[in-house]
Amino acid sequence: PQVLLLNGPNLNRLGQREPHIYGTTTLSDVENRVRAIVERHGLHLVSKQSNHEGDLVDILQEEAPDSVGAIINPGALAHYGYALRDAVVDAAIPVIEVHISNVHKREPFRHHLVLADVVVGQIVGLGIQGYLLAAEFLCAEWSRKSA
Ligand code: DQA
Repeated sequence: PQVLLLNGPNLNRLGQREPHIYGTTTLSDVENRVRAIVERHGLHLVSKQSNHEGDLVDILQEEAPDSVGAIINPGALAHYGYALRDAVVDAAIPVIEVHISNVHKREPFRHHLVLADVVVGQIVGLGIQGYLLAAEFLCAEWSRKSA
């Protein structure tokens, strides 16, 4: 069984992009740290990043049937990505939405989150630790349900 980690537009630039907001940790560091957590629970990590909404939809359609859950940072698509939202609904797996920054403290256009009511929950503003906490949650839920 696998956990899906999905990162949207511009998150390939993590570590270099606006480090005062997003920090200096790279996406591959995040992937390694999330992988360590899920493997500790006997799960496998599939991690993908794309700058294109359609690719993210394709990946969700393809990977959801094999995934116990997904951790998604949709980047700016979080604010207007209705195709991604529909794909999350269709995937019918537990999804945790992560935002590195506290989007509610930032520009008004970042306050609206279109996945809000279709995800299990959201972690915002905790930096890259949000991904790690989301991984711990999904693994704990999976262990509980498969016990
Ligand atoms: C982000 C917040 C979004 O508003 C922004 O467009 C991003 C990153 C975050 O992780 O804080 O690309 O999702």
